[in-house]
Amino acid sequence: MQTNVSIAEGVYLIGVNDRRTALFENIWPIPYGVSYNSYLIRDDKCALLDTVEFGSEGAYLDRIEEILGERELDYLVVNHMEPDHSGEIGTVLKRYPSVKLIGNAMTRKILLGYTGDLGDRFMEVKDGDSLSLGKHTLHFYMTPWVHWPETMMTYESTEKILFSADAFGTFGATDGAMTDALTDLAEYREEMRRYYSNIVGKYGGMVQKALAKLSSLDVKTLCSLHGPVWSRQAGEVIGLYDKWSRCEADEEAVIIYASMYNNTAHMANHIADRMAERGVTGVKVYDVSKTHLSYLISEIWRCRYVMLGSCAYNADMFPLMELLCNSMLHYGLKNRELAIFGSCSFGGGGVRSLRKFAEASGWELMCEPVEVTGTATPANLAKFEPLADAVAERIKAGRK
Ligand code: FEO
Repeated sequence: MQTNVSIAEGVYLIGVNDRRTALFENIWPIPYGVSYNSYLIRDDKCALLDTVEFGSEGAYLDRIEEILGERELDYLVVNHMEPDHSGEIGTVLKRYPSVKLIGNAMTRKILLGYTGDLGDRFMEVKDGDSLSLGKHTLHFYMTPWVHWPETMMTYESTEKILFSADAFGTFGATDGAMTDALTDLAEYREEMRRYYSNIVGKYGGMVQKALAKLSSLDVKTLCSLHGPVWSRQAGEVIGLYDKWSRCEADEEAVIIYASMYNNTAHMANHIADRMAERGVTGVKVYDVSKTHLSYLISEIWRCRYVMLGSCAYNADMFPLMELLCNSMLHYGLKNRELAIFGSCSFGGGGVRSLRKFAEASGWELMCEPVEVTGTATPANLAKFEPLADAVAERIKAGRK
């Protein structure tokens, strides 16, 4: 059982860590686990903000009772209905039969499919509505599609806390350090970007709208549904979400290749070597068959300069490269600069399909694509000189 954490007077974090699940949403690896956060405010009226995933380890109800004692729970605010946060709503409803659920019209619609009609146990709120609990006052802001259509955020104006649903969340369980008084953003930055890009990345425009709507609030503490509570570094975390949702990248480069018999792999290594030779450091190289898609998406979110290489496969690009390209189209990431290359034995297809991706994505091609027939002979490798020159020049100019 985890410990309840007091984050302000009368405000508690009662989240649980999950290190058992291998794949978040049954698709994204979480080698460092994840936390599902729930918050409880004890005041003249008591309010729970979101629950945790059904069956999460830890005696969730015991922890609520530890804070409330014999008192009743008056409200359950449902900021987000995705089951990693709504999974224990049924349990709370059974234990506290008079609790009122607070959400918006879309929350009610989605809840219907999970709990049935709650009648007058559901209290609908609209954008800007407030609710006094005593010393604490909750203000509700609709932030649709960050990350589901019903998503809203709740601002507590006495302690200046924003309960932000998935926003400002991260993969990674909290190893005894539930707030940034005890940990540092540096510990989470990579996993936060992987979480943002894979889970919320498609909704960057809606994240921007939410940030604009909330910009006038004085936020002292960010209480996301995943990861630590951010106070000391709240501004930096908001800054990262702002940057990523604007598709802004670092002046960095990544090479991702698909290769069956190491010919395209050899070319990827050759390009990386030529980059280093030209003074471009920090280039990362990944094999699409070895590194999980989620890390590749996160790396492309990080880097402005993206080099994609594919062997030909059934007169097309390699299937896992196709998955990566289709994922990027699905997320709609913009503002990247692209180089493409590949190899074939006859007929081609890899580079041809990557050209189509370049057109569909709108990413600017930094140079003419290079496709080699056969293996990495010195004559074939020499064909990469113009690509290396053009890309290195771009990166060096961008870094100035
Ligand atoms: Fe953490 Fe969209 O749920």
